[in-house]
Amino acid sequence: KTKSIMDLKSKIREIPDFPTKGISFKDITTLLKDKQAFRFVTDEIVTEFKDKHISKVLGIESRGFIFGGALALELDAGFVPVRKKGKLPAEVISEIYELEYGTDTIEMHSDAISKEDVVLIHDDLLATGGTANAVYNILKRIGVKNIYFSFVCDLEFILTPQKEVIQKFNPHILVKY
Ligand code: PRP
Ligand code: MG
Repeated sequence: KTKSIMDLKSKIREIPDFPTKGISFKDITTLLKDKQAFRFVTDEIVTEFKDKHISKVLGIESRGFIFGGALALELDAGFVPVRKKGKLPAEVISEIYELEYGTDTIEMHSDAISKEDVVLIHDDLLATGGTANAVYNILKRIGVKNIYFSFVCDLEFILTPQKEVIQKFNPHILVKY
């Protein structure tokens, strides 16, 4: 298993100085185009969560949608998109969160989940945890009790208060940088 996870890192392309100088971008498109790697990642996450009675998978726009959809199918759960501001057409619950410069807003349809749902929040990457924490805040406001997290990658060298909140949930992570 350890060997396979080592191999996985080799499937993720690293692009230096993108989108800005000093950032090493983790590009999962090279993993996604490889059918064995795509299957492997999906199966690893499904194995972790298959006995948790997940009722909804929340995928975070946009890179969280790709495995999110596959996971929802394989876990026999519904799929709920969490989107950037202004994209969802019906009534939404919004959460504003801090970026390095300024703020961003994510939204979810108000009727997408109920507090009885068992929710798996999925995204490709955990960096500052700002995005994941904003999703968690929405679920807290709804009163959801059972929440799990899954990320393909974690940038472990980034530590923030928001990320500490996510770490308390013992998120499932496949590739650590
Ligand atoms: C990236 C990544 C995560 C988020 C992680 O998304 O896909 O969603 O940032 O960063 P954080 O932990 O610091 O919040 P991005 O906003 O670049 O958008 P995209 O998925 O649409 O490419
Ligand atoms: Mg993203």
